[in-house]
Amino acid sequence: MNPRFYFATCQAGAEKAVKAEVLAGLPSLRFSFSRPGFVTFKEAEGEGAPLALERAVFVRLWGEALGQAKDAAALAALVSGIPSGACVQAFDRDQYLPGEEPPGYAPGGRIAGLFSGLGLPPAGKLPRPGEAVYSLIWVDDFHVFLGRHVHSARLSGFPGNRVELQLPPEAPSRAWLKLEEAIARFKPVVPQCAVALEVDCAPGGASTALLDRGFTVTGVDPQHVDERVFRNPRFGLLRKQARFLDEEDLRKCNPDWLVMDMSIAPLEALDELAHVIGLLRTIHGAALKLRHGFLTLKLNDRSFASSIPLYLKRVERLGFRDLRAMQLCANRQEFFVWAPRFEVPGGK
Ligand SMILES: C[S@@+](CC[C@H](N)C(=O)[O-])C[C@H]1O[C@@H](n2cnc3c(N)ncnc32)[C@H](O)[C@@H]1O
Repeated sequence: MNPRFYFATCQAGAEKAVKAEVLAGLPSLRFSFSRPGFVTFKEAEGEGAPLALERAVFVRLWGEALGQAKDAAALAALVSGIPSGACVQAFDRDQYLPGEEPPGYAPGGRIAGLFSGLGLPPAGKLPRPGEAVYSLIWVDDFHVFLGRHVHSARLSGFPGNRVELQLPPEAPSRAWLKLEEAIARFKPVVPQCAVALEVDCAPGGASTALLDRGFTVTGVDPQHVDERVFRNPRFGLLRKQARFLDEEDLRKCNPDWLVMDMSIAPLEALDELAHVIGLLRTIHGAALKLRHGFLTLKLNDRSFASSIPLYLKRVERLGFRDLRAMQLCANRQEFFVWAPRFEVPGGK
C-alpha cells in the first residue's frame, strides 16, 4: 500500500495551530514537513477517497499533495502529470504576516518567476463546486508542490483560497480589508437602508467599508475616529467602551449587522459583546433586526487557539447561529467568526 500525502496552507506563523487542528481532526495522519504558511501530513496507507478536513480555522486550503519538484526538469514532469483541461492554479505560500509585506511585494511572484521559462498555465475561470483543482504551490527557493483539492462553496475559488484585496488609500485602517474579505467570502445580502453597529470602530477602516456600501453606522470606541468617517452624515459615534453603553445610547440603533474587532483578549471582548447584545434585546425585543455578525477575536497569545471552541460556544449563547470561524488572509494574530444568522426569541 502506498502512503498518501496532504498539504495545508495557512498564514505564516500559524503552522503550530494547523498541526494541532489537523491531527485532532484526522488522527490517522502524521506530520511530515513544514515551512511558514505550508504544512504537509502523511497517511501511512492511502486508499479510497482522500481525507476531508472539516471545520478548520487556520487551514486556508487543504488537499492531497501529489508530488514536488526541486528543479526545472522535475517541475516540467510534475506539470505534465496534470490532466489536460483540468483547472490549474498557482500561488506562493504565505511569507509575511499581513501588513508586513516588503515594498514591491507581489503575491504569486515566486511561482510566476519559476515558470517564466516554462510558461505558467494560464489563469482560467474560477472552478465550479465539485471540480478538481490542481495547485502549483511555491514553497522555497526552487521547491514547488503540486496539490489537488475539490472546489466547494466554502472556498473562494481563487488560487490558494486567497482573496487578494488592495487597501484603498482613503481607508483609515487595515480593518477595511477584514470586512471586505469577509463580504467577498461569505456573500451576505446587504439589506435596504442597512444599519450596522460597529463595536470598536476607531480609526474607521471597517466603518469606511460599511459607509461606502450605503450603511448607516453607529460606532462605539473611546479612541479617535478618522475625520472622513466622523463627518459622514450616516455615521454616529458613541465615544466610550462597550461595557459602559446604556439603553439610552442604543435606543435609536436597531442594527442589521454587528461588527466587532476589539483589541482586547477574546473572553473580555465577548463579555463586552454580551453587554451590547443584552441592551439590544432589552430595547428592541422581538423587533430586533440583527441578522449577521462579523466578529474578529484577537489571539493575543497564540495558545488561545486551543480555546476557540469555547469562544464559539459563547458566541452561540449570545444568539448567533451557523458560525464559521476562519483565519482570514487579512487577519493578523486573530481569527474571524462569520455568523450568518441571529436568533431573536419571538422574532421573525
Ligand atoms: C483593531 S482596532 C479596531 C479597528 C476598527 N474596527 C477599524 O475598522 O478601524 C481595536 C479598537 O478596539 C477598541 N477597543 C478596545 N476595547 C474596547 C472596548 N471595551 N469598547 C470599545 N472599543 C474598544 C480600541 O480603542 C481600538 O480602537
